[in-house]
Amino acid sequence: MARRALITGITGQDGSYLTELLLGKGYHVHGVVRRSSVFTTERIDHLYQDRHETDVRLHLHYGDLLDATGLHRLMTETQPDEVYNLAAQSHVRTSFDQPVYTAEVVAVGTLKLLEAVRDYRDLSGRAVRFYQASSSEMYGSNSQAPQSERTPFHPRSPYACAKVHAYWQTINHREAYGLFACNGILFNHESPRRGETFVTRKITRAATRIKLGLQNALYLGNLDAKRDWGFAGDYVEAMWLMLQQDEPDDFVVATGQCHSVREFLDEAFGCLDLDWRRYVRFDARYLRPTEVNLLQGDAAKARERLAWRPTVTMAELCRMMVDADLRLAQRERALVDAGHPIDVPYETLESGSIPPPSPKAASQPVAASK
Ligand code: NAP
Ligand code: GDD
Repeated sequence: MARRALITGITGQDGSYLTELLLGKGYHVHGVVRRSSVFTTERIDHLYQDRHETDVRLHLHYGDLLDATGLHRLMTETQPDEVYNLAAQSHVRTSFDQPVYTAEVVAVGTLKLLEAVRDYRDLSGRAVRFYQASSSEMYGSNSQAPQSERTPFHPRSPYACAKVHAYWQTINHREAYGLFACNGILFNHESPRRGETFVTRKITRAATRIKLGLQNALYLGNLDAKRDWGFAGDYVEAMWLMLQQDEPDDFVVATGQCHSVREFLDEAFGCLDLDWRRYVRFDARYLRPTEVNLLQGDAAKARERLAWRPTVTMAELCRMMVDADLRLAQRERALVDAGHPIDVPYETLESGSIPPPSPKAASQPVAASK
């Protein structure tokens, strides 16, 4: 019988790549989608099948990590063999603006899901495996690099503190209740589907719009931070591999290479024969009260036990993102040239585009913190 997976955060970057991977392996995939007044399924629309078709293997359900009752019901209804907890308020800077909400979703939400998984296993007698999306942000100010499974955590944001809580709850469910539960400690991973307010995508989106005359400046914060950037498509493979092992364990997933934001700017603008120094401006709003200066992972354990390896370098990743965003910018350019107003995200408008932000867009409070 086909295996069944339940994915929280299916509408996010990683959720979309993991869904592709699992459908390709013949799984039935059940995804948890938050109710919203607008469509949020853009990243998985290409995978969606109308429920009236035959052999439908992608099933979407409304749910929220804040809703424990709903999570219990979803476990019973979907009867998954594997649960991937990818849902999160995942923006570090935003977590300083919304610390309690972030903790409720990331920390307590994970605990609610773990409890739903445990109860389901105990009541149904079925085996179930659990993956927790832990983060390299948990290392925080511990700049002893490269960071491995043995490196102590020193979280530097409400987001990272919440992830540390979820990490230990996952381990405690393994040790206290014998749950097959794994933490993937993933370092930064990006793609053309990356949210537009994370620094890599913000840069590739802006550089390509600048190239086509749709924008004239890009506002950023700390250019000296260093990150270990890999490709999201590679990283979801590691998530799946963790749940296929004989014993549950925790693994760092990283490329082992790290680069500064400045170097990523060099690479992205360089792909377009532009000099970023002409366009990039500093905006203190993008600084964090406490910064994580250096993340560089040691994924030796994943290499040895999972036979996992990254396949995309930072330069290749950057090129992939620039190419995709250039196609997006070309579509915008065609609309502008045809006399149609374009609907660009506020973040892009805020970065000095033409035309200037409307009063409505300027009043959106969330934009100030990205
Ligand atoms: P993402 O693109 O921000 O996606 C987050 C997902 O969580 C979205 O589907 C979002 O739904 C959903 N979500 C948010 N709050 C929720 C709630 N209360 N209940 C249910 N769903 C909720 O994040 P990502 O980059 O794919 O990352 C996936 C996971 O890995 C996250 O937990 C993140 O913290 C963690 N992580 C990411 C990285 C990275 O570099 N990407 C590295 C380490 C760990 P909407 O679409 O409705 O917003
Ligand atoms: N977002 C953003 N916007 N970051 C900026 C900017 C800016 O304008 N200017 C400089 N940066 C710097 C940040 O200060 C940070 O040091 C670095 O760029 C990366 O920022 P993000 O891309 O927002 O990612 P992150 O490292 O904070 O968090 C991501 O990776 C974590 C894993 O380490 C997120 O995906 C988290 O969910 C994930 O856990």
